Amino acid sequence: MPDPKPTVLIARRIPKSGRARIAERCELREGGLDATPELLRELAQGVAAIVADPTVAVGPELLDAAGPQMRLVANFAVGYDNIDLDACRERGVLATNTPDVLTDATAELALALTLAAARATGAAEARLRNGEWTGLDPTGHLGAELSGATFGTIGMGRIGRRYAELIRPLAGTLLYSSRNAKPDAERELGAARVDLDQLLSDSDVISLHAAASPETAGLIGAPQLARMRRGSILVNTARGSLVDSAALATALRQGNIGAAGLDVYEHEPEVPAELLDAPNCVLLPHVGSATVAARDGMARLVADAVLAVLDGRAPEHRVA
Ligand code: DGY
Repeated sequence: MPDPKPTVLIARRIPKSGRARIAERCELREGGLDATPELLRELAQGVAAIVADPTVAVGPELLDAAGPQMRLVANFAVGYDNIDLDACRERGVLATNTPDVLTDATAELALALTLAAARATGAAEARLRNGEWTGLDPTGHLGAELSGATFGTIGMGRIGRRYAELIRPLAGTLLYSSRNAKPDAERELGAARVDLDQLLSDSDVISLHAAASPETAGLIGAPQLARMRRGSILVNTARGSLVDSAALATALRQGNIGAAGLDVYEHEPEVPAELLDAPNCVLLPHVGSATVAARDGMARLVADAVLAVLDGRAPEHRVA
């Protein structure tokens, strides 16, 4: 009797290209977009690998529900704050992520949010669609020009660096704050490393590109927003936990900062009501990596990781 095929749980959904490669070699179980933690625990029983994404909490409960044969959590994302890495290590489970393939897509979305927030394109379009546009208004819809502005990136990893490259032609000055110095970015882009306080007070646009961790939780709260320039713009395509949304909504309402462009929220898919009501706030539904090229690349990397582990090879992009 041939060995039964290993079973893999795709916790929610991945693009066809990756799904088909896993399905050739494995029995598939799939939770779908509405999978609850209870359903996932049920589906995980006996699987060799779980393909997760940032909305799927992978901790002791899910790993134990899977059982001792479980070998890999392949995360369909570059961020992996949804995975309890210690719980994986304690159980001898590997974890992988999908870097690089989504760098351009995410940096481009940060650029789009930057420009959309500066020119309040969402509110302008809503007025037009609502039939409120009565013709060019010489005094209406006045946004901010960014040519010559000071741009600050918090985090200068792959996505932060790509964002800095993209905004370089606009930037008068490029600042960054990061745990480690990035001599390449300093040499090639002319970026200057400063501490967080200086970046906050000297930038016209601040874009967040730091990973979610206990150290970065609430990185931008009321005191940091108070340091930012009036009229400045905050962009977040990293993780919702970096920003205190209530404090951000207050800063926008009080005009302490000019605008915000957000793609991520702390408890997705919940969007804090105060942000929905805040002025000059562009809100997107976590679409940073949502391009065909990026999502296909991510699907390829999760399939590569699953097949490598099932073949007894070391997967690329291990995070645990
Ligand atoms: C990531 O890769 O971490 C993104 O948030 C998923 O789009």
